[in-house]
Amino acid sequence: MSNASVIGAYHTAFGAFTRPDRETGALIESKGYYDLLWEAARGAIEDAGLEPKDIDGIWLGTAFPEGFVDQAHPAPLALEIDPALRFVPTQRLEGACASSSVALYNAIYAVESGRFKRALVLGVEKMTSVSTQVMTALLARASYWPEEGAVGLTAPGMFAAYAQAYQAHYQISDAALRRAFAHVSALGYRNGAKNPLAHFGPGGLAERKGLLTAEAILALPDEGPGANAVVAAPLRLHDCSLVSDGAAAVVIAPRGAVAGREVHIAGIGQTTEVMRMGQRAQLYRHDAGIEAARRAYTEAGITAAAVEAAEVHDCFSINQILCTEALGLSAHGRAGFDYTEGRFTHEDHCAVNLSGGLKAKGHPVGATGVSMHAMLFKQMMGEGIGQTKAQPPAVTATLNVGGSGVTHCATVLRREA
Ligand code: COA
Repeated sequence: MSNASVIGAYHTAFGAFTRPDRETGALIESKGYYDLLWEAARGAIEDAGLEPKDIDGIWLGTAFPEGFVDQAHPAPLALEIDPALRFVPTQRLEGACASSSVALYNAIYAVESGRFKRALVLGVEKMTSVSTQVMTALLARASYWPEEGAVGLTAPGMFAAYAQAYQAHYQISDAALRRAFAHVSALGYRNGAKNPLAHFGPGGLAERKGLLTAEAILALPDEGPGANAVVAAPLRLHDCSLVSDGAAAVVIAPRGAVAGREVHIAGIGQTTEVMRMGQRAQLYRHDAGIEAARRAYTEAGITAAAVEAAEVHDCFSINQILCTEALGLSAHGRAGFDYTEGRFTHEDHCAVNLSGGLKAKGHPVGATGVSMHAMLFKQMMGEGIGQTKAQPPAVTATLNVGGSGVTHCATVLRREA
């Protein structure tokens, strides 16, 4: 059982904070990488009831700042929020889209060692400063480059391969798969439409276009304006996560070290899958995700049945299905049908992606892991942002995935009585 707890959290708004000017086309930035990082850092320290001088170590998860914003060696930037942080050790962790869960776990090891008492863990990414084409090429670098990215495989292509394998293995018809994906996306859009910090939040694109039901998504045309066009078959536009800017942060401390708000990090599991997709036995199941969840559940002394809310890595609709199964919330081959039957809403025993997930909250890749933990911390404290359950969940779980299903980080959080 881990000996660390989350004692404070902060989440910036997620969105596209660099947009072309309507008239000139020139890019206008409303929030940059640095603004996001500093806002999250200040916010989490304040939320924990601490001051910067109380922080004795900083861990930053961020995936591609060298490419997105020309910034290498980004962890020391966190010190700029306050002179009292001078000399505090900082480190940057990278695990593609799981970067900030990896950062969190390394901070946990440091706190558990007894060497650190108050660790600030940050996740940040700024993706909209480059074109979709450049962004896609950067993300592809998290593949086994010589055999995958270099020959044109992109993130949608990688997860399309999972979708094809899943469909073939479980013998799911095209129509049933498409329906399941639409239900997954609609649930994300409905939850996101309640979340004021979401990229597709209240009054956002999904709500404005009336895409809060699977039927509405299924009724979209294949081509033309407003189409749900194929991006990488069978994945369509509304099966893809958003390209977002944003940051989140948590403060962790030894379990029981503070009086007051505390969520115990009851169990963690981090696993790594073979990187080359072509060398894996199959692509219809996240074996490494299953093992990460098993480790986290074992450490926490629970089973999947205890989980009341989960944030899972829906970078593409198929991955929400695979992650739901890896966490044991659905049987293998069944998650798509469970979503189609209306499970995993805020009214269910276990709600999935109350935040709107990567599909609607947004997916600033390096920020996503800490974002999941920050959102669940708020839910568990009865301070849920956006969609909430009737009762704040006492036990929650995350599954954050990096690369083409390579780095898997599962966490179990439990509210202290
Ligand atoms: N889901 C739903 N709508 C989306 C969207 C998405 N993922 N991406 C863009 N849109 C909407 C835009 O808001 C815009 O709507 P509007 O015309 O009504 O304003 C329209 O679609 C076109 O937007 P645009 O920015 O031109 O889209 P794009 O073609 O540049 O990007 C994708 C679309 C799917 C390629 C891009 O969202 C993507 O790559 N997503 C996946 C990101 C990823 O791989 N993350 C890492 C996962 S491991």
